[in-house]
Amino acid sequence: MSYNLLKGKRGIIFGALDENSIAWKTAERVHEEGGTFVLTNAPIAMRMGSIKDLAAKTNSEIIPADATKVEDLENLVEKAVDILGGKIDFVLHSIGMSVNVRKGNHYTNMNYDFTTKGWDVSAVSFHKTMQVLYKKDAMNEWGSIVALSYMAAQRVFPDYNDMADNKAYLESIARSFGYFFGKDKKVRVNTISQSPTPTTAGQGVKGFDGFIAFAEKMSPLGNATAQECADYTITLFSDLTKKVTLQNLYHDGGFSNTGVSQEVMEAFTEDKD
Ligand code: NAI
Repeated sequence: MSYNLLKGKRGIIFGALDENSIAWKTAERVHEEGGTFVLTNAPIAMRMGSIKDLAAKTNSEIIPADATKVEDLENLVEKAVDILGGKIDFVLHSIGMSVNVRKGNHYTNMNYDFTTKGWDVSAVSFHKTMQVLYKKDAMNEWGSIVALSYMAAQRVFPDYNDMADNKAYLESIARSFGYFFGKDKKVRVNTISQSPTPTTAGQGVKGFDGFIAFAEKMSPLGNATAQECADYTITLFSDLTKKVTLQNLYHDGGFSNTGVSQEVMEAFTEDKD
């Protein structure tokens, strides 16, 4: 269902790799709500993914950018403003990657070059993106910037590895940069802490199937899907949430505030009959 919530708004969407990506679903929803945008991803991901199909479907252009490279981001922002015909109203940062996770390195046995690459891609890229937008004065007043996070930033999930630290860093950048973006440009910055979701990045985490099944049983409303995350993101891009900023917003069916659920207790209770 469409409410025209983003009519006339212009944006940049990072991270749509394939149709499972949270960014893919968000791009489709933004399009339905009347927003226009450019799509971007790392040049290597363009070759692997099917982003061209999404671009055709949503009438949008693709501008490749490695989000760790400031010059790529400068080019992206300049071109986006040009193509869209004005300053930007919304940005989705939907980027995450840990080389230690990919290579199966345990948290207690990290390769620190991989660690550095991981926080650059997953967290500092968010700072770089905002700094480029800020310096170029490319955001409209009351614009909205959103990045995606996970609750391992607050609590231990052993297999999430150094992505837990990357997400803590990401959430801190959202607050710190959000302060200046709010004060100086009236732009809001938030992170959404999303349920485990079956995407390429999600399924890269060891033990993902157990992880997602456990979260489903723990959450009173069940896990939030990628589609539901897209819906939530639309509200944050819309004018209905103008004073929401510096927040890490849980979108997880209630998982983060649940100590234990009936279903999980039953799995640990001996049958007395
Ligand atoms: P995905 O694999 O579809 O998206 C990750 C994207 O990051 C890909 O499009 C990839 O090309 C892009 N990327 C990697 N390196 C890049 C670089 N140097 N420059 C530009 N882009 C780069 O997976 P998903 O799940 O849609 O991930 C989106 C976000 O959601 C990530 O931040 C992820 O950590 C977060 N998230 C995912 C959850 C899950 O269980 N899938 C749960 C909570 C948060």
